[in-house]
Amino acid sequence: MDGLTQMSEKAVLTLPGKRIELPLFEGSEGERAIDIGALRKEAGCITFDNGFSNTASCLSDICFIDGEKGILRYRGYDIEDIAAHCTFVEVAYLLVHGKLPTEPELKTFSEYLNEHSMIHEDMQNFFNGMPPQSHPMAILSSMVTSLSSFYPHIMDADPNFDITAARLISKVRTIAAFSYKKSRGEPVVYPRHDLPYCANFLNMMFQSPVKQYEIRPEVVEALNKLLILHADHEQNCSTSTVRMVASSGANLYAAMSAGVSALWGPYHGGANQAVIEMLNEIINDNMNIKKYIAKAKDKNDKFRLMGFGHAVYKNFDPRSKFIKGVCDNLLAKMKIIDPLLDVAKQLEEAALSDSYFIERKLYPNVDFYSGIIYRAIGIPTNMLTVMFAIGRLPGWIAHWKETVDNKHWKIWRPRQVYVGPARRDFIPMNKRA
Ligand code: ACO
Repeated sequence: MDGLTQMSEKAVLTLPGKRIELPLFEGSEGERAIDIGALRKEAGCITFDNGFSNTASCLSDICFIDGEKGILRYRGYDIEDIAAHCTFVEVAYLLVHGKLPTEPELKTFSEYLNEHSMIHEDMQNFFNGMPPQSHPMAILSSMVTSLSSFYPHIMDADPNFDITAARLISKVRTIAAFSYKKSRGEPVVYPRHDLPYCANFLNMMFQSPVKQYEIRPEVVEALNKLLILHADHEQNCSTSTVRMVASSGANLYAAMSAGVSALWGPYHGGANQAVIEMLNEIINDNMNIKKYIAKAKDKNDKFRLMGFGHAVYKNFDPRSKFIKGVCDNLLAKMKIIDPLLDVAKQLEEAALSDSYFIERKLYPNVDFYSGIIYRAIGIPTNMLTVMFAIGRLPGWIAHWKETVDNKHWKIWRPRQVYVGPARRDFIPMNKRA
């Protein structure tokens, strides 16, 4: 890769009775890594890194994060610039293709999004067969993997990957909107060719035969920004899952479906739903903010302040700062007073002035305010993580592509340190205690 520099110096590792030199290299933003690939062969040992938090699993040129400085860049562009000036479709193109689209490129990509927005009519049987209370993430994950049965040759004859990426990005939006309509027992609204990506989604979600839905420009703008801010975040839990699945040679849909499932967890993308539930709980508990701050600090209590803290950011998450602005702006324009916003602000203020959170560098993350914006748009709480998945899809696709195109492709297979019982004799049933 262009940004990779092999350093002349070596890292030196001293083990009992052994001293070995390991290659050192540097990424384009100065991040240094020790190549430990030969460690097992040369020194008979492996490295241990609980949860991979200090391990680079791959070389990637898609996204850069400096968690200490609160920097996030997609393909070299600052998130603040991208979110201020681009549409989600432009950003999707940027992530998948590595460059900002020219006007004709964007037009073609947008046309592909429109052309491939429908899902096979037979797929509607899936929605009908799911229990009405199904979580939308369960539906999304099943439907995405099912796409591989309906469109098995989707990647054939698409050498530049444009149509493949656009099809998936477009169909996921349709699946999400259809699942919402089905959950309400309402007729689905088909995608429209005359509407751009976000407006089309809002129309599919909220248009109804009995009530005209007005697509408001401020809502379209807020949705574009939210999806952009979710579009990629380097090797987080769901993206690493996508890459892991891709490394086995599994198809694009299987890998995306795995990404959806990994995102669902409340410590990852599911936090946006958990934040709204937490804020409601606080309101119903007489706005007792002190109690919830104390619970979050109590090591005997499993409660955590949802939407706070991040595995990589030890400074403000740049996305959360931006989102807070979008939130204030949208609610003001829509003249919405949401009591949850008030609780969120009070909770943030209390946490940011508390030594527990200060010492541990725990700040609001991307999920802290995003749910309040989605509520203002009309998205139900159980669909918040689906919105995250729609936004994250271009990033996952880019990482899937980077993995399968890698000249030095390798199936991902971490090691473990076994700590279970040593070999023991089998005990027949009649002698077991
Ligand atoms: N509330 C209370 N304490 C917290 C929180 C929190 N939200 N987050 C971290 N801590 C504490 C931990 O208990 C730990 O304390 P200790 O040092 O006394 O043991 C310390 O801060 C460090 O926490 P770790 O769990 O080691 O931090 P890590 O970086 O591994 O975890 C995570 C990151 C999972 C995001 C965590 O901060 C968390 O659970 N946050 C709440 C859930 C959430 O908002 N997730 C969304 C993240 S953004 C995203 O994935 C899209």
